[in-house]
Amino acid sequence: MDRRNAIKLMSLSLASIAMASVAPKAHAAILRDRASSKKRLVFYFTATGNSLFIARQFSDNPLSIPQELKKESQNYEADEIGFVFPDYTAAAPLIVRDFIEKNNFKASYFFTIVTYGHYCANVAEWWKDFAAKKGVDFNYVNTILMVDNYLPVFDINEELKLEKHTDENLAILLEHVAAHKSYVQEAQQEEGRPPMDFAALEGRRQFQYAVKAQDAMDLDRNKCIQCMKCELVCPQKNFSLGNFGVQYSGTCQHCLACVHACPQKALTLKSPMPNFPGERNPNARYRHPRVTLQDIVRSNRQ
Ligand SMILES: Cc1cc2nc3c(=O)[nH]c(=O)nc-3n(C[C@H](O)[C@H](O)[C@H](O)COP(=O)(O)O)c2cc1C
Ligand code: SF4
Ligand code: SF4
Repeated sequence: MDRRNAIKLMSLSLASIAMASVAPKAHAAILRDRASSKKRLVFYFTATGNSLFIARQFSDNPLSIPQELKKESQNYEADEIGFVFPDYTAAAPLIVRDFIEKNNFKASYFFTIVTYGHYCANVAEWWKDFAAKKGVDFNYVNTILMVDNYLPVFDINEELKLEKHTDENLAILLEHVAAHKSYVQEAQQEEGRPPMDFAALEGRRQFQYAVKAQDAMDLDRNKCIQCMKCELVCPQKNFSLGNFGVQYSGTCQHCLACVHACPQKALTLKSPMPNFPGERNPNARYRHPRVTLQDIVRSNRQ
C-alpha cells in the first residue's frame, strides 16, 4: 500500500469512528464521500450545533465563519467549496452574508446546506441569488430539517419529540454533493397554511436581526453565576464581566447561542410586544446531542 492510499484508509477509518453516531444510510454515504481525493473546504456558522453537526458530515475539518472572519480578506480555493448555516427567516445569518461579501472563493463545484426547523420558504433560491451578486455561483443549494431552536415560537421539549428524518435526508444530500449534482431547491409552501407572499419576505431580510443585545434579552441577576459561558459562545463578543456583574451590549445576530448555552437559564428573550411571552418555554434549552459546548465555544469565541 502506498502512502497516499494509507492516508486515505486512515482518514476513512477516522471518519468511520467519527460517524459511528449517525445511522447506517448516512454513514455509508459519508464513507463514499470521504474516499474522494478532491480538496473540499466547508464553512459553517452555528449557534446550537445543528449546522456544525451537518458541516462535519461533509468535512473532517469544517471552518468556522466567525473564526475565518478574524483574518484579512482571503482567497479560498479548492475543488469543492461548501457552506452550512441555519435559516434565519428564509435567509442567511448576517455573519454569513458578511463572510461571503468580504472574501473571494474559487472552486469548480459550490454547494450549500441550510439547516432549518420548520419552514424554509424560498431560502435556497434567495441564497443562490444573494451569493451570485457577491460573485459566487452555487451549483447546489438544499435544506435539511432539524430541531428548531427559535425560542419565541418553539418549545424545545416539544421539538425533541418530533421525528424529522434528518439521517435519511442527510444521506441524500451527501450523495448529491458527492455526485456534483446541480440543483437549487424551489420555494416551498407551508402545509395547511395560506400561500406565502415571498415578495413580502424580502423587506424583512435585510434588517430583522441587526438588533442590540440589550434590546433582545433580559438577564436575571439572581440566577446568574457569572460563569461567562454566554461570552464564550457569542460570535459578536457582546458580553463582559464588569463591576456590576455581567454586562451585554453591541450588535446582536439574534443567533440565541448565549441563551441556549446559559446553564442557569438566566438569559431569556424579551417579548416583542405587550402581553406576548418572549419565549414558548423559558425552561427548555437546546444543543445538538453530538456537539459539545466546547465545540460551540471553539466555533464562535471572539
Ligand atoms: C433568529 C432565528 C430565525 C430562525 N428562522 C427560521 C425560519 O424562518 N424557518 C425555520 O424553519 N427555522 C428557523 N430558525 C431555526 C433554525 O434555522 C434551526 O433550528 C437551525 O437548525 C439552527 O442551527 P444551529 O443549531 O446550527 O444554530 C430560526 C432560528 C433563529 C435563531
Ligand atoms: S452564561 Fe448565564 S449564568 Fe453564566 S454568566 Fe452568562 S448569564 Fe450568567
Ligand atoms: S448576544 Fe447572544 S444572540 Fe446576540 S449574537 Fe451574541 S450569542 Fe448571539
